Amino acid sequence: MKNGSESGRTAKENLFVYVDGELLPRSKATVSVFDHGLLYGDGVFEGIRAYRGIVFKLKEHIDRLYDSANYIRLNIPLGKDAMMEAVLETLRKNNLKDAYIRLLVTRGVGDLGLNPTICKKPSIVVITEPSSPSQDPRTNAIGKSTIISSIRRDPVDATSHEVKSLNYMNSILARWEAIAAQVDEAIMLDTRGFVSEATAENVFIVRKGEIATPSTSSAILHGVTRQKVIEIALDLGYPVTEREITPFELINADEVFLTGTLAEMVPVIKVNGRVIGGGKVGNITARIYGEFVKVRSNPSEGVPIFSRVESAEMSGRKHFR
Ligand SMILES: Cc1ncc(COP(=O)(O)O)c(C=O)c1O
Repeated sequence: MKNGSESGRTAKENLFVYVDGELLPRSKATVSVFDHGLLYGDGVFEGIRAYRGIVFKLKEHIDRLYDSANYIRLNIPLGKDAMMEAVLETLRKNNLKDAYIRLLVTRGVGDLGLNPTICKKPSIVVITEPSSPSQDPRTNAIGKSTIISSIRRDPVDATSHEVKSLNYMNSILARWEAIAAQVDEAIMLDTRGFVSEATAENVFIVRKGEIATPSTSSAILHGVTRQKVIEIALDLGYPVTEREITPFELINADEVFLTGTLAEMVPVIKVNGRVIGGGKVGNITARIYGEFVKVRSNPSEGVPIFSRVESAEMSGRKHFR
């Protein structure tokens, strides 16, 4: 297999998973049932994407992983460079160029008590799968219907969503509400009642040419895609404000869209039964998306998978057994 499109056809069962320094067949890639990642959701993770051989914003994702780990007092037993090599090596092993990458670090094996100091060795797992390009919101009717969830986002002084932790119960409860309401997604408010984020995406609104997105004080994840979209919008000459957004502003916006690694940019066409922007993808959303598509596989936006093979052989393999 030579290229990304061929690798896209690789049967998932044949892919290898990195577990604590070893590349294992999927069926053998396991962690202990005594891992506190399973018992308590105690751990951190990243969802990352590679486009045409470039891992988009890999350094930024690794930085966020280590910030999350630092916040929960989890010492990752691998330096940032070695962690990046673990991701790249897993992609190379699976010969993937267009991929979704799930990187997780668990607290490790402990006993049935909560005490995290019992867990001496965090587990590191890298799962990679082929990803096909997301649907283009400009040419496909893929706008999402949403509700405003009754489940409030965990506040920044509680289980803050600035930490990308393995505990997604807050999002899952909101997602269940969306399922029950037969819509695609739930948008959550912070404890003060301002718009926070969707269950796995950040939120943007556009009103009279101004783009606004909730600031970090509204209990959001510091989204990597959010940051890139802000940069693109500013480069295109749109004013962007990070501020508190009320549900009133959300419902009455000209355009609403969500951003995330997996979702990329998804227009929202309904909130609580009210149609946004006539139910069509807005001009500003479409323009920013067009630019995002152009830049997402630029080498300057990430780290190449394959050109670092040599350096991986020389140094990075230290952590592979
Ligand atoms: C709760 C939440 N907010 C926002 C995002 C978007 O973040 P990013 O753009 O870094 O993927 C995610 C992504 O998984 C998420 O889980």
